[in-house]
Amino acid sequence: MTAGRSINSIRQTWCTPPKYVRAVRKVFGGTIALDPCSDPQSVVGAEVEYQLPHCDGLRSSWDYPTIYVNPPYGADRQRGTTIKDWLRRCARAREENGSEVLALVPVATNTKHWKDYVFGVADAIAFLYDTRLKFLVNGTDGGKGAPMSCAMIYWGEHIERFEDIFLPFGAVVDLRRLHGKAVGMAHDGAQSLLFPHPPPKTRKLSGRRARR
Ligand SMILES: C[S@@+](CC[C@H](N)C(=O)[O-])C[C@H]1O[C@@H](n2cnc3c(N)ncnc32)[C@H](O)[C@@H]1O
Repeated sequence: MTAGRSINSIRQTWCTPPKYVRAVRKVFGGTIALDPCSDPQSVVGAEVEYQLPHCDGLRSSWDYPTIYVNPPYGADRQRGTTIKDWLRRCARAREENGSEVLALVPVATNTKHWKDYVFGVADAIAFLYDTRLKFLVNGTDGGKGAPMSCAMIYWGEHIERFEDIFLPFGAVVDLRRLHGKAVGMAHDGAQSLLFPHPPPKTRKLSGRRARR
């Protein structure tokens, strides 16, 4: 299986295990404001959670200060969306709203979605060391775990905090030196950087809860 590609066989309800929920919360200073693709069995506990069928997370506002995304890895034929749409929203939330965003996704460095929304755009990555990341399936972590390698991608300004918190979980790479650079042009001459990374809007965290 190639992570992020042969994706239809991967179940879409693999929820984040508690160890990563705790780490994400720490990076965000204690609060996850939005989980745009939540699940009834999730332990993420964001202040605002979008859940199907009532709320489509790709059609709703991401204007929140801290956003955690563990998206469906498979293609959604009904809505015509893929993981690429989720990563696009992550990058845009940072760029347009100054949100701090973390996304737990399969490592897929050769895909267009990584080229467009991660390299040259995100601020850091933690390549997670789990041999088989034990997502919560049906509320338990008793299974064999996921076969693909996974990464936590970070769009935000607290790189040192992200590194301190995620180094115990894997190899943290600071991506800021790639911002605005023509990454991989020798292989993909036609590719343009969709997000040349102007400084993101700064935002005040206070008063955000009133928007819920
Ligand atoms: C991998 S699970 C993650 C759940 C939770 N975020 C967590 O990490 O514990 C992805 C969830 O997103 C839901 N989902 C899929 N497409 C969605 C959409 N367009 N809007 C909202 N939720 C969606 C799926 O039903 C599934 O429950």
